[in-house]
Amino acid sequence: MAQYIALYRKFRPITFDDVVGQDHIIKVIKHQIINNQIGHAYLFCGSRGTGKTTTAKIFSRAINCTNPVNGEPCNECMVCKGILEGSVPDVLEIDAASNNSVDDIRAIRDNVIYAPTMAKYKVYIIDEVHMLSGSAFNALLKTLEEPPENVIFILATTEPHKIPVTILSRCQRFEFKRISKDDIAKRLQTVCEKNNVKAEYSALLVIAQAAEGALRDGLSLLDRIISSGVTDITESIAREMLGVAETSTVSGVLSCIINKDVSKMLVIVNDVVESGKDVKYFVWEIISLARDILIYKNTKDNNLIRNFTLLKEIEELSSITDNNELSEIISYLSELEANIKGATFPNILLESALIQLVSSETKEIKSNIPEKKEKPIEKAAKEIVQENKATEKKEAKTSSSNSTGNWKEVIDYLRNTGKMSLYATLASTKANIESDKVTVYFSQEFGKNVIEKPENMSALKESILAVIGKDIPVKCLVAGKEDKNESSQIDLINLGVDVNIL
Ligand SMILES: Nc1ncnc2c1ncn2[C@@H]1O[C@H](COP(=O)(O)OP(=O)(O)OP(=O)(O)O)[C@@H](O)[C@H]1O
Ligand SMILES: [Mg+2]
Ligand SMILES: [Zn+2]
Repeated sequence: MAQYIALYRKFRPITFDDVVGQDHIIKVIKHQIINNQIGHAYLFCGSRGTGKTTTAKIFSRAINCTNPVNGEPCNECMVCKGILEGSVPDVLEIDAASNNSVDDIRAIRDNVIYAPTMAKYKVYIIDEVHMLSGSAFNALLKTLEEPPENVIFILATTEPHKIPVTILSRCQRFEFKRISKDDIAKRLQTVCEKNNVKAEYSALLVIAQAAEGALRDGLSLLDRIISSGVTDITESIAREMLGVAETSTVSGVLSCIINKDVSKMLVIVNDVVESGKDVKYFVWEIISLARDILIYKNTKDNNLIRNFTLLKEIEELSSITDNNELSEIISYLSELEANIKGATFPNILLESALIQLVSSETKEIKSNIPEKKEKPIEKAAKEIVQENKATEKKEAKTSSSNSTGNWKEVIDYLRNTGKMSLYATLASTKANIESDKVTVYFSQEFGKNVIEKPENMSALKESILAVIGKDIPVKCLVAGKEDKNESSQIDLINLGVDVNIL
């Protein structure tokens, strides 16, 4: 019986032109090859499954091919074929994860001095190079310092920050980008065609989204669906198989957020959570839909919309909301999405964050209406928020009683001056107001991240100044955790990326 070959192996590009989404790199490399200006050491870095090893392999053939065409390997000559089969000893692929000792690298050093046997260049592809030990890096450095003629090193890694600068400074560095959703979907389309599998493009977009920029992951997910026997991949099959929420659920929740219908929202969210769907992806989908509504509201152009199956809902929702509200929803949910992965209980975080998002605005609107009886489900919602507060550790309890009143005033000031999303974020926090500083305790990391953004921080300090009459520093802490400044900065960076790719 023929051995089953995973799609991502079967569809490893064998020419530069076949590599998707890395044109900025391919262009430079091909130029170097055509003009005979290749270097001795390269560093290919960037996130996983984006083509680093693939490109290194094509490179090893392109420079050794006896019949290259425009910088591309012919893949037909003896050398190309030999390298493709792995039978040319001059091209070596070394996995540094399992060969990371100084002796492994010394073996390479002893080997580089011999001239190539079959090919023009000896090529050493060292994958996962960040796994080398300190002394192995030193040994490698010696070789890179006096590179023998006709020897080329290609170091590949997802974690370039773990590589000593002495090594970095001797390499030409190329950054492999995460691959766009459209590029992944198009590649998946080609693969489906070659496998005689029918697939809706919207289904491929769902897979591409779940791949998060890694083409290998996209192919593996597609493999999972195809190997289950499906030959006609519809969007709903893709969603079901990838554990992604139905689009109607997504528009349902967004509609509840906009209509401020907490009870209905909780029912839908509960269904999503109960059925084991991917919570982070669910949040991303709500953001993506809110983005569509924002775009549609301002352009009325269907072509700019991603969620085309939801055009009717997009039209409807765009007429009952405004730019401000949509932007606030997007930025609030983006913070949530960036932090949900690390959360211990993503489900609870999702529920309480959505409640906070909806109820903060509800309160504002209802403040002019005479008190009406709370619906039981809203009460339950409030209890979840209360529960969250209760989980805060002792530090939170240190907030002295006399400052609690002031803190509430600070928060109310934000609401009264129209800073609704800041108000929502701070509504359930506690703070300790001292004469020379204010310490705010958050129950979740994402709230802290929002407030630590410079523009939000200065708005907060403004209201502290207005209420307390002092311009004093503000420190943000997550109750029960140490001061995690560094990680929150990284989250903000991630957030920037996420917002940009909307
Ligand atoms: N840019 C790309 N164009 C086309 N296919 C790609 C690309 N990136 C990845 N693939 C597909 O994914 C598979 C794995 O890619 P590759 O091994 O080159 O990734 P990598 O960047 O080296 O990942 P890792 O960091 O995990 O080693 C390839 O065999 C190919 O099928
Ligand atoms: Mg690799
Ligand atoms: Zn060739």
